[in-house]
Amino acid sequence: MVASQMRLTGKRALVTGGARGIGRAIAAAFVSEGADVAVCDIDGAAATLTADEIKRQCNGRAHGFTMDVGERASVLACVGECLAALGAIDILVNNAGISKVTPFLEMPESLWDNTLRVNLKGVYLCCQAVLPGMVAAGKGKIINISSQSGKRGNSQYAAYCASKFGVIGLTQSLAQEFAESGITVNAICPGVVFTELWQSPDMLGAYARKRGLAPEAVERYFESKIPLRRLCTVEDVARAAVFLASDESAYMTGQSLNVSGGLEMS
Ligand SMILES: NC(=O)c1ccc[n+]([C@@H]2O[C@H](COP(=O)([O-])OP(=O)(O)OC[C@H]3O[C@@H](n4cnc5c(N)ncnc54)[C@H](O)[C@@H]3O)[C@@H](O)[C@H]2O)c1
Repeated sequence: MVASQMRLTGKRALVTGGARGIGRAIAAAFVSEGADVAVCDIDGAAATLTADEIKRQCNGRAHGFTMDVGERASVLACVGECLAALGAIDILVNNAGISKVTPFLEMPESLWDNTLRVNLKGVYLCCQAVLPGMVAAGKGKIINISSQSGKRGNSQYAAYCASKFGVIGLTQSLAQEFAESGITVNAICPGVVFTELWQSPDMLGAYARKRGLAPEAVERYFESKIPLRRLCTVEDVARAAVFLASDESAYMTGQSLNVSGGLEMS
């Protein structure tokens, strides 16, 4: 792309859970739009590999770092490394997340705790680590990846839905609190994206059992329910993230943008 047409030229971004899936696509889209991107992931080796591949494919700047979003010490150490490499963080994408379909009465406390730790506490910790720099700069963009499960409860999905509803509440609260500092905070609610997260036995196999379907029938099942008749792609989500990270969305804050082919409309 011609530099003058890029929408994130000169911006510095941190993407959590960026080694693969939706986070990787967001990191790549940001680099293609001219941003310098820190790809942070609990799998630091994968984050570095992804950053190297994005640099080559998009002919831009990307760096890989290790971060467990659910551990304050890890978040603070990683944000320090990112600031040293990038100089500042203008855009924070809280994307890291985990997911498992489980009947509620069989859900161990460890699954509840870990889902809330990564999906919700992780957003709190990363925002608390990055916001002071944004406040000092008088500007910033925070994008939280929630889900359609952040707007509608679903059976056998209690911990995940609770965490993603929580992300929307946190998004709206931070949007209110930091608007006067020039910082916008928005969420994206993707529909079903067949990333590794969805294709794992914890998800696809368990979801197929829940609906009484064969695993290979699940994709067709969703396609029949989605008004636009196809699953969401990582690129669909990445395009929405570029919009929310760019000046084009300057007058939007506290919003939760559905990217679900019409499956969720509220
Ligand atoms: N795939 C979907 O259908 C879908 C739909 C709606 C929302 N989402 C959300 O989008 C986000 C990305 O999902 P995905 O499908 O790309 O998942 P994914 O499993 O393919 O990728 C998630 C990434 O997060 C990393 N990660 C996991 N725990 C972490 C931690 N504690 N600290 C840092 N990194 C960690 C993983 O290593 C992985 O690289 C998640 O928040 C998920 O809940 C996904």
